[in-house]
Amino acid sequence: MYINFWYPMVRSEDLGPDKPEKVKCLGLNFVVFRDVDGNARTLSDTCTHRGGSLSGPWELGERPRIVNGCVVCPYHGWEFGGDGECKNIPSIGYGTKTPARAKVDSYPTVEKYGIVFAFLGDLPEKERPPVIEVKEWDDPKWRANTVLVLDVPYYYERSIENGIDPAHNEFVHPTHGHSAINRETYKVRDHDVIDGEQGWGMVFKHRYAAPGLKGETWKGVEAPPADIFAGTETFGPNAMITEIEVAPGLKFRQYFIEQPVDDNRTRIFFVNMRNFMTEPKNDGPIHARNKVIAQQDIEILSDLYPLRTPISNTKEVLMPADKAVVAYRDWLAKFDDKGWRIDWNQFKARNSTGEIAFAIPSPGRRSSGNWVLETVPLLKNREARAHAKAS
Ligand code: FES
Ligand SMILES: [Fe+2]
Repeated sequence: MYINFWYPMVRSEDLGPDKPEKVKCLGLNFVVFRDVDGNARTLSDTCTHRGGSLSGPWELGERPRIVNGCVVCPYHGWEFGGDGECKNIPSIGYGTKTPARAKVDSYPTVEKYGIVFAFLGDLPEKERPPVIEVKEWDDPKWRANTVLVLDVPYYYERSIENGIDPAHNEFVHPTHGHSAINRETYKVRDHDVIDGEQGWGMVFKHRYAAPGLKGETWKGVEAPPADIFAGTETFGPNAMITEIEVAPGLKFRQYFIEQPVDDNRTRIFFVNMRNFMTEPKNDGPIHARNKVIAQQDIEILSDLYPLRTPISNTKEVLMPADKAVVAYRDWLAKFDDKGWRIDWNQFKARNSTGEIAFAIPSPGRRSSGNWVLETVPLLKNREARAHAKAS
């Protein structure tokens, strides 16, 4: 898992004006809420007083949990603004100056495509990777389904690797054509893997046979007339865009923007764009269909071992059809070399002592000191990752 990328936190429609939401991402808790202007804000969830959770519990308190745009800690009522500063400490009197050290980390937050994104890291604005772009969002020829949220019980890198794997479709998704495989001729066709259009990832495009159709040959391989083009671009460690051209000019573009909850849970925010069957009445059936396909992947991916992707490709037997997976891992290595990867083994071991509270470093840490929470341990580079030991 990496700091310094934009992560989806909650759907806009799920973030009300007076209820703070608890979100777990990168192994840590965050509180997301709306300020007086209705803008979404994201803070580290740990109150610097004595460790209360700023986001909860909602049901117990009768007192409002957002006051004057501040989130109120349910334990002793300290009030934190969207900038992370503590504005009021009731025990010393409302309006009394609060200690500077009472601050919590505040993360840049934007809302796009029906999703609240937070930048979980400390890079200054100019150096930050951008939020993923949903290019068709404002194009009237395209229709977006409302964001579908899928909770899956596995590590996010396993999920991304599945999305860039052209060899699993025939086997995991029966409707994608295993029955049509001709054992004499079937193989995953050659495809190129190049750098992605949006930067921060790779892209491949692949042509494969649609189910149950027979036809001509293409480069010596059986190629039914209704061949389908499909391809995927990755974006950062946690997002990908799959394009499926079901017939000439008729396309789905599917954005999977993933929230790595911890090392065995992921929440996927799925934005499905299409330029055909654009009438709203098709939204429901398309959602239902996507859920069936997702469930087929979930069943396979819930059973992979080890939990996380291996550090070395020599720990698996990789084939040409895995070349997009290799390219994605090469991009991860670049993020490792920027020093953005969380040292998960060390974090897990120290966190489990139950004596230390951690936070993802926020940009504010670059301009001021004296922070109460310890920042998550990070790995310096790929080399350090290879030598990091579970302790
Ligand atoms: S722990 Fe939050 S106000 Fe005391
Ligand atoms: Fe799949």
